[in-house]
Amino acid sequence: MRQAGRYLPEYRKLREKYSMLGMVRNPELAAEVTMQPLRRFDLDAAIIFADILLPLPLIGVDFSFIEGVGPRIHNPLRDPRDAERLREGDPEEELRFVAEAITLVREKLDPDRALIGFAGAPFTLASYIIEGGHSRNYLETKAFMYSFPDRWNMLMEVLTRVTIRYLKMQVNAGAQAIQLFDSWVGALSPGDYKHYARPFTSRIFSSLTACSVPLIHFGTGTSGFLGEMRSAGGTVQSVDWRIPLGKAWEIIGFDSAIQGNMDPLAMMAPVEVLKRKVEEVLEQAGTRDGHIFNLGHGFLPQTPVENVEFVVDLVHELTSGSR
Ligand code: CP3
Repeated sequence: MRQAGRYLPEYRKLREKYSMLGMVRNPELAAEVTMQPLRRFDLDAAIIFADILLPLPLIGVDFSFIEGVGPRIHNPLRDPRDAERLREGDPEEELRFVAEAITLVREKLDPDRALIGFAGAPFTLASYIIEGGHSRNYLETKAFMYSFPDRWNMLMEVLTRVTIRYLKMQVNAGAQAIQLFDSWVGALSPGDYKHYARPFTSRIFSSLTACSVPLIHFGTGTSGFLGEMRSAGGTVQSVDWRIPLGKAWEIIGFDSAIQGNMDPLAMMAPVEVLKRKVEEVLEQAGTRDGHIFNLGHGFLPQTPVENVEFVVDLVHELTSGSR
């Protein structure tokens, strides 16, 4: 997650010349940025340099990234009637640059490293579209969802259809696993998750099953409805640090794979603490198969590069031979 992010000096160097979206839309540059962390660290997988917001213009919602602020939606959806006017663009046409970048990375990437493609899940995308940017309490999103359930369904429906086409395109271009980011779904109660979000996420996963690639279902703050998340689908459930990994795995079921769950802020800790944090996660995973070591959420730009190297190497050292 955000491996390439701003904590890498070589990424920041490119960013002095190009904008984030300028790099994403240029397949050569996007491939280069995707490869940057793989050159430095012994990672098992790369994630394509793109963003979950890229499909928004396909439904008629425009956005940009504002330096120091984050994503800004230019025309947030507040009037429920606007949900009827959403368009449905073709990812093969309008997001072809992502497919091209994926194909380029596959040519460069060591064959025993996997390339992960991704998209945002409908709830998380809808929260950006309605709030206009990042939100603390999702007031507008929930007000919309509760007050205009049919328009909510229309919005979620079009996001679901575009996302399915977008992800199939990524698999066809060479993505060997897919991660669906429902980053902000933890804002919902378990009941609201089942009612307002799960039916759509579930359709995305069931439509991708035939693609035969591992499907990683990502969320944060989801400790209260891990079972419901699993029932939405995905081969791997990703959990954050707010629950011990072993406990989360028990709820999800040991017949499912799991990803997680170090606190990204622990990456700032002195090495002795960092070592303890890594060991804790691995102890929780035990000797079972099917654990992907990861952070519970993305890296912060302030993360010291040497700490990333330390963690990646330590995980390999502690798991070699045993799993
Ligand atoms: O590691 C990578 O760089 C892989 C590509 C990637 C990006 N965004 C690039 C990016 C991935 C997998 C994402 C996912 C993403 N984007 C999510 C889901 C994961 C999560 O963190 O929950 C979300 C919610 C977004 C939306 C988004 N994009 C935000 C909130 C921001 C601002 C970031 C911040 O911390 O201020 C972005 C911009 C963005 N996307 C950057 C990168 C590398 C930073 C761009 C820059 O300023 O150079």
